[in-house]
Amino acid sequence: MLTLKNVSKTFYPGTANEKKALSHFSLHLDPGDFATIIGSNGAGKTTLFNAIAGVWLTDEGKITIDGEDVTFMSETKRARMIGRIFQDPMKGSSPSLTIEENLAMAYGSGHHLLSPAISRKDEQFFRETLARLEMGLEDRMKVKMGTLSGGQRQAVTLLMATLVTPKILLLDEHTAALDPLTAEKVLAITKEIVESRRITTLMITHNIASSLEMGNRTLLLDDGAIALDLQGDERDALDVEGLLALYRKQKGQALDNDRILLS
Ligand SMILES: Nc1ncnc2c1ncn2[C@@H]1O[C@H](COP(=O)(O)OP(=O)(O)OP(=O)(O)O)[C@@H](O)[C@H]1O
Ligand SMILES: [Mg+2]
Repeated sequence: MLTLKNVSKTFYPGTANEKKALSHFSLHLDPGDFATIIGSNGAGKTTLFNAIAGVWLTDEGKITIDGEDVTFMSETKRARMIGRIFQDPMKGSSPSLTIEENLAMAYGSGHHLLSPAISRKDEQFFRETLARLEMGLEDRMKVKMGTLSGGQRQAVTLLMATLVTPKILLLDEHTAALDPLTAEKVLAITKEIVESRRITTLMITHNIASSLEMGNRTLLLDDGAIALDLQGDERDALDVEGLLALYRKQKGQALDNDRILLS
């Protein structure tokens, strides 16, 4: 469903600030794969999402989504295939529009702007979808999005990103700004939506426990490349301590390699 082959991206090339953010990055996800991504600040996680979403073009390599080569496709065109949620609950929805209008925009590609009335059928569908969040939002469809709490907004944003099933769902620390209980709830909703609809998903998290509990694969990014790709029995056997130990070992080896290079 998603393939990146040998993708690289360097910011400020040829200057003192040069930063190789993605380095010969390759990854293949099968349809329905749900991979979590962990890695230190600056490892290249968000950059990977920007490359997939087409925020800018990569320096080299090839990206395909559902067999289609999107390497040189515009961000707007790719947006039709990709659902993306950010850490900031303020992003991803319009605060001055109601919940219902936001959902209508995500569902009907904005045609409600021409005909402001939302059909009864769509309204019923939105109500049922909202009810599944168990946040009581189905009875508040006419309130402005901006008046919701961060957790409520992230939950609605998740619905918006998946109302029309995307080929790829990109979640960038989408629960990081939420209190622990709300974060847990939004994660449970994420799991339910992604698994019941078999949406191919990448989820960045700094929560090691979530990185093992959610999905079927865990990727550790380091220095713009995949340092660990855990799946199957190896992943099933890991607990948080085990993964942290692997992480440290990986970091240690990198340090040792540096030492060899420098000696
Ligand atoms: N648009 C940009 N211009 C210049 N440098 C950038 C840009 N985007 C990312 N970088 C650099 O690329 C590197 C990777 O950044 P990225 O945002 O991908 O990290 P991350 O793994 O998402 O980290 P975090 O956990 O802090 O979100 C960093 O050194 C960052 O400063
Ligand atoms: Mg990031």
